[in-house]
Amino acid sequence: MKYSYISHLYCPKCSNTFSHEQKNQLCTCGSPLLVEYDLEQLGKELSKEDLVGRVSSLWRYHELLPVGDESDVVTLGEGMTPLIKMPAMGEDMKIANLWMKDEGIIPTGTFKARGAAVGVSKAKELGVTELAMPTNGNAGAAWSLYAARGGIQSTIVMPIDAPKITRNESAISGSNLYLVDGLISDAGKIVAQSVAEHGLFDASTLKEPYRIEGKKTMGLEIAEQMDWKLPDVILYPTGGGVGIIGIYKALTELKKLGWVEGELPRLVAVQAEGCAPIVKAWEEGRSESEFWNDSETVAFGINVPKALGDFLVLEAIYQTNGCAVAIEDEALLAEQKTLASLEGAFVCPEGAATFVAARRLREQGWIKEQEIVVALNTGMGIKYPDTITVEVPILQKGDTIKKSIKS
Ligand SMILES: Cc1ncc(COP(=O)(O)O)c(C=O)c1O
Ligand SMILES: [Zn+2]
Repeated sequence: MKYSYISHLYCPKCSNTFSHEQKNQLCTCGSPLLVEYDLEQLGKELSKEDLVGRVSSLWRYHELLPVGDESDVVTLGEGMTPLIKMPAMGEDMKIANLWMKDEGIIPTGTFKARGAAVGVSKAKELGVTELAMPTNGNAGAAWSLYAARGGIQSTIVMPIDAPKITRNESAISGSNLYLVDGLISDAGKIVAQSVAEHGLFDASTLKEPYRIEGKKTMGLEIAEQMDWKLPDVILYPTGGGVGIIGIYKALTELKKLGWVEGELPRLVAVQAEGCAPIVKAWEEGRSESEFWNDSETVAFGINVPKALGDFLVLEAIYQTNGCAVAIEDEALLAEQKTLASLEGAFVCPEGAATFVAARRLREQGWIKEQEIVVALNTGMGIKYPDTITVEVPILQKGDTIKKSIKS
């Protein structure tokens, strides 16, 4: 058996094919490239039962990942994050089977570790020594740290307003870190120029085909953790859209392998009201989005005014009879508190948005009471300490607490 069943790269727009053994970025037509596997052969050689007892990380699915040689794997133990039942939240929003896939429990504290682990590993295999990328913070933090572990130099450009901890994570790894007084789209232009001038490997979202393969493992894990019975709905906080594209790709591959049956879950792209290009495109029935001017939201990771893979996100929504929902900042910040007080879960703002979306879709009857619903929390709340304001009574030495504060 081979370590990976990768066969080639293909363009979802013009069907051109490319080799996975050379460094490839975008298709000549400008579209992102996707990875194809020899699923027919894999289906003959591997069954889902063979996964039992394997390493508890995303590398348990190595046949469905692009790295050809195990010695190139760069890992910090990422993956197999908890899928947790949320009974109190479920009762509160009248969803009997509400689950949270908690990506806070992963190296670097966000799901970006998945894309970084697989992307950096494949870059190492291809002989990349220096990579560059624009980021909203979390991806840059993860790629800096994984690149350091893989012996690859990184150049990262992030908005000055990105969560401060991500700046520190990136800097401490020895990355060449720059801040830009603008958005991720502005960081992207600077990186593109530097890539062209200095010949760096461009690790921007979807400009290399392998990050998506790492994020795909969220879908593989949900399927395996649910004993290969798929949920009815999966809600995902969508910025660049790599996660939702990846989950759709994973579930499609599992269907082709015959490891899951029936309808795919309805995929819901959750965005912020202050940056909702995918929601607008979906509402208008379009296959691509338009640049969202003056975008703004506290859910920083989903502040992406125009995603390169928008047409793939929209395809995933249309193909699964899903939908797209925009959430106001006040509502997601309030939901963050509800989650912490009802379930003890301190989720990131992006993750909180998926729960507001579930609540709204349930109220509208789009989600039925007995349906199995999985909300993705893409990162841990403690990476965004500034989204919470607290007022705490201060005691002097020797003071006593007279009565319970909550009474
Ligand atoms: C915490 C968090 N959630 C969601 C996203 C959106 O990710 P995607 O590119 O998969 O849409 C990001 C991206 O930065 C993020 O940091
Ligand atoms: Zn093409």
